[in-house]
Amino acid sequence: MVDESVVSEHYRHGQLLERIEDGLQKMGKSINCATVEDLAPVDEFHIGGRAATEHLMEQLKFSQSDRLLDVGCGLGGASRFIAKTYGNSVTGIDLTDDYVTVGNRISEWLAIKELVSLHQGSALSMPFDEASFDGAYMLHVGMNIEDKDTLFSQISRVLKSGSKLGIYDIMRTSEGILSYPVPWASDESFSFLTEAEEYTALLEAAGFKIECINNRQKFALEFFKQLKEKAEANNRPPPLGLHLLMESAAPIKITNMIENIVNGFVSPIEIVAQKV
Ligand SMILES: C[S@@+](CC[C@H](N)C(=O)[O-])C[C@H]1O[C@@H](n2cnc3c(N)ncnc32)[C@H](O)[C@@H]1O
Repeated sequence: MVDESVVSEHYRHGQLLERIEDGLQKMGKSINCATVEDLAPVDEFHIGGRAATEHLMEQLKFSQSDRLLDVGCGLGGASRFIAKTYGNSVTGIDLTDDYVTVGNRISEWLAIKELVSLHQGSALSMPFDEASFDGAYMLHVGMNIEDKDTLFSQISRVLKSGSKLGIYDIMRTSEGILSYPVPWASDESFSFLTEAEEYTALLEAAGFKIECINNRQKFALEFFKQLKEKAEANNRPPPLGLHLLMESAAPIKITNMIENIVNGFVSPIEIVAQKV
């Protein structure tokens, strides 16, 4: 079993808040007038960013009064978007202390801390009571978690019966040697990709009923195409973007991820499930 500190060290940045403030300045903004929309290119660390979050949320159809859990929340961009758009109270949990600290500061800038609280911790031992949430989602996190059995048992434990769970992870779609580094791992020692069939079997064993599975390969390839076109048109990356999180390794990590998707070895896949 991989030491979780290897994973949080992979994501730890150290100067992220300063880099995001710089990016805002380049956009002619400051922390006092930034919006949830301004931050979206950097605080949603998954393929397709905000558009991908919206697509999943449309299927989950949470009610405004639902207390939601964001498993592996990262900087919490999806949580702030959901809180602002639908009015939900959202709790996030993430292994990487750096992301949680920066994410909570961004929530302060955006005056949304009353609705969104991010906590450092592992999804494999969540410090939340049984049946304390009405819904949950997990965006691009399972790739770092080997013990998905415990992961789904933990999510099931903290959800009320009838709650919806939305997953959007990069999953294995065929055998083949993957190119590394990728955004979630420098090498295969802490990359735990598995097939959608394995996810659904483990979810069912943890007490979930599967409602739908969507392979988002086409959407992902279109997203990368647009990103490339924009960067080429401007001759440089935008002031805020995922390159700030991945720093100098961003080009090779993104290139490898696209190559792995184009080869049909992996794909971002949504699973919508309901706790029975
Ligand atoms: C690619 S980022 C996605 C972050 C966020 N969900 C988003 O879409 O913006 C993966 C995140 O999973 C978190 N993570 C990995 N393993 C975890 C675990 N066992 N418990 C909690 N968080 C974990 C990492 O710290 C990282 O922030």
